[in-house]
Amino acid sequence: MTTVHNHTISTQYLKVHPDQPEPELIAIAAEIIHRGGLVGFPTETVYGLGANAWDQAAVARIFQAKGRPGDNPLIVHVAEPAMVRTLVSELPPLAEQLITQFWPGPLTLVLPRSAQVPDEVTAGLETVAVRMPAHPVALALISAAQVPIAAPSANRSGRPSPTTAEHVLADLGGKIEAILDGGPTGIGVESTVLDLTAGVPTILRPGGVTREELAVVLGQVAIDPHVEGKGVLSAGGGLLAAPRSPGMKYTHYAPNAPLILVEGEESRVVEHILTLRARYRQSGKRVAVLARAETAGYYRQHHPPEFLAVLGGRDELAVVAARLYRTLRACDEAGVDVILAEGFPTQGLGAAVMNRLRRAAGQNIVLV
Ligand code: TXA
Ligand code: MG
Repeated sequence: MTTVHNHTISTQYLKVHPDQPEPELIAIAAEIIHRGGLVGFPTETVYGLGANAWDQAAVARIFQAKGRPGDNPLIVHVAEPAMVRTLVSELPPLAEQLITQFWPGPLTLVLPRSAQVPDEVTAGLETVAVRMPAHPVALALISAAQVPIAAPSANRSGRPSPTTAEHVLADLGGKIEAILDGGPTGIGVESTVLDLTAGVPTILRPGGVTREELAVVLGQVAIDPHVEGKGVLSAGGGLLAAPRSPGMKYTHYAPNAPLILVEGEESRVVEHILTLRARYRQSGKRVAVLARAETAGYYRQHHPPEFLAVLGGRDELAVVAARLYRTLRACDEAGVDVILAEGFPTQGLGAAVMNRLRRAAGQNIVLV
């Protein structure tokens, strides 16, 4: 017989100053981490759900709270580069160079793990993902806890990542001991995950540090072919081998309503979205459109839009990134039946934006 545990716990809400977090509030959260509890906290990318990385039981609770598949490993967060030494068996010179250049910041490095890191954290892999976040609240929490903190994004598994404390409470309230509310996060998409255990440094997930920025330091940087998600076909037509970052095989970032992503030449994209919108409306569906600043006007013409989100301009990809997840969540709150999204350029932060949009769309990608 299986028993379903449905207990809720009371989630302590701690509002902190984002730049100078109050030490007494950080101490409360650090104490919870020490006792094996779970704390939501802001980073510069998205909110994380933290537990003591050395505490197997606490880490197991992260998976339970999120409904996360056990084979998807976690990123371990440190408060200073020296903390990485306890987590890895080897720190290649290239890693040191990247740490100097990009930490604190949205770059996660995949390195050979040390034996002490619990299997729960790495999902049994021989590698561990580490990063030092550039957020005063995150750094204060890790410093006060005096342990590395394992933390995935603080959303229910499969949902858009949280960029505010409200998002965290909506997904995980009653399942975690506390949330540190440091206001909305800045970057809005997750860190770049870079594998340094492959021959050529390989991006497993595009994110806050761009490929272009990495190339300046690394020269050569590869992109894992699984980055764009399921159903990727190899040149030979066969399916690719198992992804190196286990998280890549799962549905991600998805709002409740199906999202259709339309990519291609601008005027054709607009035309196609207008056609789809008209068709869905005819069948009584409520439609959201996620548009570029340049094209938003077209969707305001003819019919008053039910839901139109202007994500930002073609040249404002940082703005688009910052708005992306909260817009996807807003679509759900508005109760729309279908979301039609325009594609964005894939340079700079656009690579992370388009990766998340394509993953959220799953198979629903139209090239026009
Ligand atoms: O910005 C971020 O990275 C946020 C904040 C909270 O730091 N965290 C985050 O964690 O996005 P999560 O768990 O949502 O995504 C971690 C990604 C997953 O795709 C996972 O598969 C990959 O990193 N990952 C973790 N450990 C890995 C490893 N040892 N090898 C390859 N990929 C790994
Ligand atoms: Mg996540």
